[in-house]
Amino acid sequence: MFNIAILGCGVVGSGVADILFDKQEELSKRFNQEVKLSKILDIKNMDGTPYAPYLVTEPADVFEDDSIKLVVVTIGGLDLAADRCFAALKAGKHVVTSNKAVVAAYGRELTKLAYENNVRFLYEASVGGGIPIIRPMNICLSANDIYEIQGILNGTTNYMLTGMYKDKMSFDDILKDAQAKGYAEADPTADVDGFDAARKIAILSSIAYNGFVDFEDVKCIGIRDVIYADHELAATGGYAIKLIAGSKNTEKGVRISVEPKLVDKSRMLAAVNSVYNAILVRGSYTGDSLFYGQGAGKLATASAILGDIIEILEAPDRQNLPAFVDNTAVIIKDSDDKERFYVRLKSTFNDTESEELKSDITNIFGNKAVYLGYALSDNTTAAFISDYCSEAELKVLCDKLAQCDGVESIAYTMRVAE
Ligand code: HSE
Repeated sequence: MFNIAILGCGVVGSGVADILFDKQEELSKRFNQEVKLSKILDIKNMDGTPYAPYLVTEPADVFEDDSIKLVVVTIGGLDLAADRCFAALKAGKHVVTSNKAVVAAYGRELTKLAYENNVRFLYEASVGGGIPIIRPMNICLSANDIYEIQGILNGTTNYMLTGMYKDKMSFDDILKDAQAKGYAEADPTADVDGFDAARKIAILSSIAYNGFVDFEDVKCIGIRDVIYADHELAATGGYAIKLIAGSKNTEKGVRISVEPKLVDKSRMLAAVNSVYNAILVRGSYTGDSLFYGQGAGKLATASAILGDIIEILEAPDRQNLPAFVDNTAVIIKDSDDKERFYVRLKSTFNDTESEELKSDITNIFGNKAVYLGYALSDNTTAAFISDYCSEAELKVLCDKLAQCDGVESIAYTMRVAE
């Protein structure tokens, strides 16, 4: 008998329960033992729901029940969810969670504790919702030296960036729309400022580069300063704007950030729209592999949790201690890598004088700079894409341009994804 308990019966937890109801017979047959949902720990009143018969309100009802072999932690937030994960592992139960805050903050301690207690701690659903990414990186791609990850890891901001361009909307209006549709929370900070994606790229990078990456070391630039004109001007140059959670493993250490970037429209990442997520993994043998799908949602995320449950049913005794448990990655905070940058400026020129702006840009940034012209939506806003330069060089060149006639200010810059 393999009894399962769910801790936290919200959107994802109830999805796990629904799939377990659906698949109980199939799983029991496949694993030659009765596999079933046994208890749900929650303080909500669930009368009249299919979950009510399973409801318990005391943690001891789960942790002291020897028939429960696996605990699914779908509680949101950090402290309580983390406490429950620690308690379940200490009680000798496998733990599966979708809670990225817990994994990003305590993943190495929980992994070690699981190892010491001969149980497993799995968290496929914590990154990319229903997209398989953690197990492929841990197993299928693990012969590779993974040297780069580029992810669209936050559905809310991808919905907002897509909608801002499609419907010519301001940040405030698309945020209200995302909140009305239930994608963005009342306090949208975690999504729009990049902190949600930062946790996810830190988790993936720890696995990929064999060294723990602290999410607090991820440089975060959210999408609050992106305006409709940026999409219009980027499109003129053949680019889409995406919030890219990316990391690169270099000889000097790991560069990691969440920031809006221009992505060439010929690349598959540029075509990932609305709430969908995608993760590009660059490996020494595979080259580029792209994982795409629903990055959130009740059943998609619950599906990833079921994948972990099935993995544990198949191999309850499989033990491995990933390298990130004992190694910490070196994080490079300031980089002098040469990259291309999109530069948006405020101009006081009118259209007839725009040739002068173009030649000032060429004189200062060189003839490889790509002039994108003025935005149709705002004829005081112009943009160009620089040639390869470091961030420090960009600043010097922008300061020079800001001195030219007709340039009121350098308003915004974004990297171009390579
Ligand atoms: N707020 C997250 C997103 C939910 O928008 O992607 C899934 O982690």
